[in-house]
Amino acid sequence: MILAQGSERVPTGRALLVAQNRQLFVTFTTEKMTSSILVTGGAGFIGSHTCVALAAAGYTPVILDNLGNSDIRVLERLARISGSAPRFIEGDVRDRALLDRVFAEQPIAGVIHFAGLKAVGDSVADPLTYYDNNVNGSFVLAAAMKAAGVRTLIFSSSATVYGDPDSSPIPEHAALRPANPYGRSKLMVEQALGDLQRSDATWRIALLRYFNPVGAHESGLIGEHPQGKPNNLMPFVCQVAVGLRDKLSVHGGDYPTPDGTGVRDYVHVMDLAEGHVAALKHAEKQPGLTTLNLGTGEGASVLEVVKAFERASGQRIACEIGPRRPGDVPAYWGDPALALATLGWRARRGLDQMCADSWRWQQGNPRGYEPR
Ligand code: NAD
Ligand code: WQD
Repeated sequence: MILAQGSERVPTGRALLVAQNRQLFVTFTTEKMTSSILVTGGAGFIGSHTCVALAAAGYTPVILDNLGNSDIRVLERLARISGSAPRFIEGDVRDRALLDRVFAEQPIAGVIHFAGLKAVGDSVADPLTYYDNNVNGSFVLAAAMKAAGVRTLIFSSSATVYGDPDSSPIPEHAALRPANPYGRSKLMVEQALGDLQRSDATWRIALLRYFNPVGAHESGLIGEHPQGKPNNLMPFVCQVAVGLRDKLSVHGGDYPTPDGTGVRDYVHVMDLAEGHVAALKHAEKQPGLTTLNLGTGEGASVLEVVKAFERASGQRIACEIGPRRPGDVPAYWGDPALALATLGWRARRGLDQMCADSWRWQQGNPRGYEPR
């Protein structure tokens, strides 16, 4: 039982223990008590959607983000969706003193760690920046959590840790062979967090390997807006549909897949967000280390995505089959059975909804959070 200082109130379920002048009183309240969850990178694409899912599940998200790849105006949008904006701390996850202050200032029940860099090509060009942000950032965070006695951590890993898999669907026990510094940075953090949990069994850690997150919140108020020319398929298709780009270059039409184009496991970002809430609830139940794929278990080709997007938007997407993109894997999709068995979570939104929601966001916000 935690004792409050002065007349501060400490949640103990619906009963409150109130400490005043060294005397204890128990009072009852109808006020909703919620756990605060620190969401690093919470202003970004997946983090912002997860803040919505956390609020809907009764948690209080607290965002820490350096805004390196996001926009502060996401907070107003989160307020419109959830009724209030999350507390926002602008800062870097590598800033240990800042983290210590955050943990000291308010009770944090757990951390969802999204903050990191994610562009594969940049990681090849500048590996040290990637290892610093993704690996060192995770180490600084874990050390601050340890010092603060916060031992519940959900980590954004990636299906990229599998590299080019032997077969699909990929189970979690498949070989781990990341093919670039970005992927290796995720695997290093997975391994370090595994070691941490084995060193102290009170840690509650989930390593979530996402496949290809796409889509947007159904309100169309938040979504993905990459800076510059998009690397990823769905943002590129969206920008062609809205007239910002002339045509999609399909990276390879001669793969050993049904229509010759690359196949991936696209997963709706709100399904992913709900997966994080499910992982958090699971971690709250018992200590341990859980490694899970979050995907749909189904692959879709580039041309299938284009067709689904044309159906959803009523727009024609001009395409041109170009050369293969160096480093691309022909086809892979995940096996989400363990996530279902462990968390009771499965992706519920299909490709048509992913495209419809991406289109709603893109149409309403062609310049992202910039005013139109
Ligand atoms: P994003 O770039 O939209 O979000 C990341 C957020 O973290 C941004 O708001 C950025 O400003 C912030 N950030 C980066 N470095 C930081 C630092 N050192 N300190 C504080 N804030 C920092 O990316 P996303 O798509 O939402 O991805 C979130 C996480 O999920 C990343 O760790 C990424 O590697 C992982 N992931 C993404 C995908 C994907 O395809 N989007 C797939 C698998 C895994
Ligand atoms: C999907 C398919 C392309 C763009 C990347 C990262 C991975 C993960 C998710 C974080 C492929 C094709 C794409 C275009 C195209 N991120 N394509 N024209 O490569 O599966 O995964 O994002 O962890 O680490 O590597 O996603 O969206 O780039 O590509 O034809 O303009 O679309 O060749 O077949 P990818 P993607």
